[in-house]
Formats: sequence, C-alpha cells, structure tokens
Amino acid sequence: MGKLLYVQASPRQKHSRSIQVADAFVDVYARAHVDDEVETLNLFEAGLPSFDGLAVQAKYTILNGQMHPAAELEAWRAVEKVIVQFKSAQKYVLAVPMWNFSIPYRLKHYIDLLVQPGYTFSYDPQTQYAGMLKDRRVFVVYARGGDYTDPHPPPFEFQKSYLAAILGFIGLTDTQSVTVEPTVIGNQALRQERLAAAIAEARNIAKTF
Ligand SMILES: Cc1cc2nc3c(=O)[nH]c(=O)nc-3n(C[C@H](O)[C@H](O)[C@H](O)COP(=O)(O)O)c2cc1C
Repeated sequence: MGKLLYVQASPRQKHSRSIQVADAFVDVYARAHVDDEVETLNLFEAGLPSFDGLAVQAKYTILNGQMHPAAELEAWRAVEKVIVQFKSAQKYVLAVPMWNFSIPYRLKHYIDLLVQPGYTFSYDPQTQYAGMLKDRRVFVVYARGGDYTDPHPPPFEFQKSYLAAILGFIGLTDTQSVTVEPTVIGNQALRQERLAAAIAEARNIAKTF
C-alpha cells in the first residue's frame, strides 16, 4: 500500500481549472490503486506554520552545523511536521495555477518549509548539492489564464520552469505534467476544448502512474 499526496495550490475550489484536471487524474488513479491512500492538502486551507523569525533562524542553525537552542525548537518542530507529511508519500499530484508568471504565494511558502538541508537536500563540498527524495513520482497540472503556446506568448514563464527546478533540487526528477491554457483569455470554445484535452491527457497518464 502506497500513499499519494494531492497538493492543491489554488484557492478556487470547483472553479479551479488546475484542480478540475488534477481531480480527473486522481479519480482514475484511485480506481486503479484501491489499496493506496490519497491525502489531499489544499494550501489555502492548510494552517501552514509561519516561516519567519525563529524558524528561519533554526534553518541557519542547521546550516552552521549547530544544535537548535530551546527557543528555536518549537518553531522547528512545526516545520518538521510539514516535511514529515510530505515525505510520507511516494507519489505526488500538484495542481498549480500561474500567478504573475510564477506560482501562488502559498505554494512558495510550502516550498520554503519543505526545502531544508538534511531533510530534503544535502550539501557536501565534494558532491555539492544532492536531492534526498528518491524513487518518487510527480504529476503536475499547470493552469494559465493566457496562452503560452501562442506564437507570440507573454515573455515570462517562471511557473513550470521554477517548479520543475525546485522539485529536481530535492530529488523529484521523475515528473510528468499537463498544462491547461488559456483558461481566461481567448474564446470560450477554445478554452473548453483545451480543458477537455487536458482532462483526457491527465486521465491517460493516470492509468500508468
Ligand atoms: C493573482 C493572479 C495572478 C495571475 N497571473 C497570471 C499570469 O501572470 N499569467 C497568466 O497567464 N494568468 C494569470 N492569472 C490567471 C490564472 O493563471 C488562471 O485563472 C488559472 O486558471 C488559475 O488556476 P486555477 O484555475 O487552478 O485557479 C492570474 C490569476 C490570479 C488570481
């Protein structure tokens, strides 16, 4: 029995295109893996611990190779809890909107909690940085209001490029993705057509995930 963690980075619930496509994926996956646990985490509903003050200081304590003083421990335990939940899964599904050419701030907050030395990546002067999450699969749905397949797309794309890089940094290199776009601009027929195509593609990938 394995565990799939389904991370939703949109607050738009049933209006969210990334969640609609990811739901279709999870539906097919769950039917094919009846013994697996599927845990859903909506980042706009989850009470993520703050990553400031003592928690950031605690990260520097680790980077400096020291033990956490008592004052930092409580803040660090809250960060560890988020990491433990993430690492308890072997497979991940991420529903990710594009916000201002990048990812929503709650997903960035989640990443800032997860990407920690000694937990999800290691550093060695010889081997440099190495991701610590091994043998795990990731499926990402990217949603974009604009159309980046257009021959003249908007100039910035820091959504997929950033997320793929940071996932790879912690060892999550076995990734597949589907992009649903445009979800806002363009005529309605095109938007519906692209949504249906993304759902079909997601369902297809789920069969062998
Ligand atoms: C704060 C905010 C910023 C956005 N910025 C962009 C953007 O830079 N480029 C774009 O193509 N769409 C942008 N959009 C539109 C969303 O990408 C689009 O609505 C997408 O479908 C959101 O994903 P969701 O439907 O899963 O919530 C933005 C939307 C919001 C709310």
